[in-house]
Amino acid sequence: MIDLRIRVAATDDLDAVLAFWKAAAEGTSISDDREGVERLVSRDPEALLLAEEAGELVGTVIAGFDGWRCHLYRLAVRPDRRRLGIGSALLAAAEERFVRLGGRRADAMVLTRNERARHAWSAAGYGPEEHWRRWVKPLAR
Ligand SMILES: CC(C)(COP(=O)(O)OP(=O)(O)OC[C@H]1O[C@@H](n2cnc3c(N)ncnc32)[C@H](O)[C@@H]1OP(=O)(O)O)[C@@H](O)C(=O)NCCC(=O)NCCS
Repeated sequence: MIDLRIRVAATDDLDAVLAFWKAAAEGTSISDDREGVERLVSRDPEALLLAEEAGELVGTVIAGFDGWRCHLYRLAVRPDRRRLGIGSALLAAAEERFVRLGGRRADAMVLTRNERARHAWSAAGYGPEEHWRRWVKPLAR
């Protein structure tokens, strides 16, 4: 049994979180920079959840709820601490948050080729909806 603490991220954590994602997350996101995560935590201060073991960052997830849908992003566990239940604990904490806020269904974008992630999401009770495709448009800034 590992001694895990899950807490909400503060502004002081953001540089460490960005560095952590470089080492532990799958790919990069369009919002993976200081400005992007600062905007997230200022808009929703409880969305970014961190898992810590003996004070060290070992996992993250973003539990984003906009009042309509519950989206999960940046689920990542430090490579040397995988398969210990940290990912599951982060998802459980994210789901608790969604339920508390009145969310009805959680979703995540999972790369088809990310087999490890597919196993982890399945184990947590998520399943793919094959009839959807993600449609995107970059916004001019
Ligand atoms: C996906 C990820 C977050 C899982 O985190 P984790 O802490 O290792 O997951 P858990 O220990 O909670 O695993 C829970 C269950 O998921 C399944 N699972 C997780 N990793 C697996 C793997 N590599 N192979 C097969 N099943 C796996 C298992 O059923 C596991 O339960 P078990 O260990 O009792 O068999 C982690 O592998 C990771 O950070 N990957 C890189 C980033 C990434 O791809 N994130 C997902 C983006 S969509």
